[in-house]
Formats: sequence, structure tokens, C-alpha cells
Amino acid sequence: MQRWTLDLNRPDWRNALEASAVCSAITNGELVAVPTETVYGLTADATNGEACAKIFAAKGRPQFNPLISHVASLADAQRHGEFDSPALDLAKAFWPGPLTLVVPKKKTSTISDLATAGLSTVALRVPEGPVMRFLSEKTGCPLAAPSANRSGKISPTRADDVIADLEPCLSFIIDAGPCSIGIESTIVGLTDGTPRLLRPGGTTREDLQGVLGSSLQGAPTNVQPDAPEAPGMLLSHYAPNAKMSLNACEAVPSDALLSFGPDRVPGADQAYAEFNLSPRGDFAEAAANLFRGMRTLDASGTNTIRVQFIPSFGLGEAINDRLQRAAAPR
Ligand code: TXA
Ligand code: MG
Repeated sequence: MQRWTLDLNRPDWRNALEASAVCSAITNGELVAVPTETVYGLTADATNGEACAKIFAAKGRPQFNPLISHVASLADAQRHGEFDSPALDLAKAFWPGPLTLVVPKKKTSTISDLATAGLSTVALRVPEGPVMRFLSEKTGCPLAAPSANRSGKISPTRADDVIADLEPCLSFIIDAGPCSIGIESTIVGLTDGTPRLLRPGGTTREDLQGVLGSSLQGAPTNVQPDAPEAPGMLLSHYAPNAKMSLNACEAVPSDALLSFGPDRVPGADQAYAEFNLSPRGDFAEAAANLFRGMRTLDASGTNTIRVQFIPSFGLGEAINDRLQRAAAPR
């Protein structure tokens, strides 16, 4: 595996990347880890079934769980999916950005059946992270990319997280530093005329409803673990090795504490280890730190991570969704 460190503040990063062997690795069906604004993605040519099979094998991912295809623009997305008017409104308002739209797959789409797990729908996203868009544009391929972690484990927000999990499977990793948003994209289903929230994420429910002009159905916490609407929404997910205990009212010396905001729970100073997601109580900062915080406390050797209460509006909804899945019975 070759690690490519990319400084996105340098105006010539595109030339450097284009001159590298990364694009040909993708068109040759190899796996490349690519940063986006949400998390790092384990990336392959979505039109190449064999390359997509490598993603499932590397992650240890069940084959019924379809992949998101990343493209460079709405026009590219429309070559693969049918966009009704709410879908177009959402795409125009939030792309590029942390929003994935599940729409009917066009018969003429070249995205492989393995990427869509044989469904008649396709999950499409135009990420804000410019590296993924650039690679899609240069290779001419929609890029299948799940989060670059072993299935069920904590999502990666830094290159080192990816390397720890998946190094032997990769041809390249592009390291552009930590991801700015830090939790995955929001997924909205637009397959039957009624937009539905399939996974809370980096675009808030409130912002989506503002554009749709109506409230968004679909409460991911009601999803049945054996028949999830987005097949990846299995109840136990994002799991650290330590047990997670939510809404802790106090800290104890035997347990680590994942805290939030300036208010201290009783005993916080005696906790086994502590990570504050955002000492000033800012949701965006907490989202960006969430997976790193879980990894850091997990590495402290504690058996249990207690999590302070975090309100569930705005990005707090996605943060609580990930925490509930991390705490679910395994
Ligand atoms: O932010 C993100 O979305 C990241 C970055 C890399 O873009 N990707 C990501 O992918 O989180 P992944 O594979 O970890 O999650 C994709 C989710 C899964 O829950 C999957 O079931 C759902 O999208 N999905 C994909 N295609 C679908 C479809 N046709 N219908 C319903 N759900 C779908
Ligand atoms: Mg994932």
C-alpha cells in the first residue's frame, strides 16, 4: 500500500494526483482509500463487479448491504438514477455535501448489480470532499465507497484509522487529514413519492425539511434489526470493544467517560479516562470528534464507556443514532 499525503490548500494538488498511479489503480479494479468530508471511503469503480466484490471481502460486509456510489455532479448522478422533483430539490440544495439520495436505478445505469445488491434502487452522493469528486471525474467512473472500516466497527475519520483496519487490502490511501464532518452522510429514500429519512447524518433533518417544505417521515430508531429499510442500518454497528452505556448521570473510577459540553457529571474528574466531544457544547465539533473519541477511550483499556447525555436535535440526532448503535446488544 502506498500512502499519498495531500495538502488540499496547495493549488496544484489536482495535478499531483492526476500524475500519480491512483486513477489507473481505480480503473484497474483496485481498492483505494479516499477521504470525504464525512468519513474515509473504501473506494472502487462501481461499474466493475469484481472490484465491488473486493470491497465486500475487505470489509467482511454482508453482500445484501448495498454501497453508495459517489459521482462528481448532479448531471452524472442523473445518468444512473431517476430524480423526481423532491429529489431534484434536495440535490440542488445540498450537493455537494453530506447527503445520499436513494432513487430508482435507471435501466441504462452502468453501476454493477453488486454495488446495488441487486436492488432496483441506487444510492448516489456528490460529496463535498473534492478528492472523491476529482477521482470520479478523472476516471469517468461512479465510485462505490462504504466507510473504510471492517463491517460493524467504528468508522474512520483519519488515515491512520483506515490503515489500522484495512492496510493489506489497499493499493493506495490518500491522506488529506481529518474529515471535517466526521459522521456519515444523511440518507434519504425517494423511491415512492414520499421522501423518507433512512439514516440521520451530516445533513440535519431540520435543514432537509426546510427545503422539502414538509416533515420527513422515517424514524431510524424504529428500524427492525432484521429488516432495515437501508439494509446497512443494523442495530449493532459502530461498535467499540468496550461496552457503551448511554445517558450517564455520573462517572465512576472504573469506567471511561465520553463527555459533552461544559457541564460536568458528578465524579467526572475521577473517571478512568475522559474524552470531551466538545467542551463548549457545539454539535458540529462533537460530530467531528465522535468516532475518534470512541476509538481513544476504547484504546484506554476500559471495559465500559459511559456517555453523557447529548440533546437530540440538529446534528445531535445523528450523533445519538451512532451512539445507540454502538451501545446496542451484539
Ligand atoms: O458519508 C457516507 O455516506 C460514507 C462516505 C464514504 O461517503 N459512506 C457510507 O457508506 O457511510 P456505508 O456503506 O457505510 O453506508 C451506506 C448505507 C448503508 O446503510 C446501505 O444499506 C445504504 O447506505 N444503502 C445503499 N444503497 C441503498 C439502497 N439502494 N437502498 C437503501 N439503502 C441503501
Ligand atoms: Mg459504514
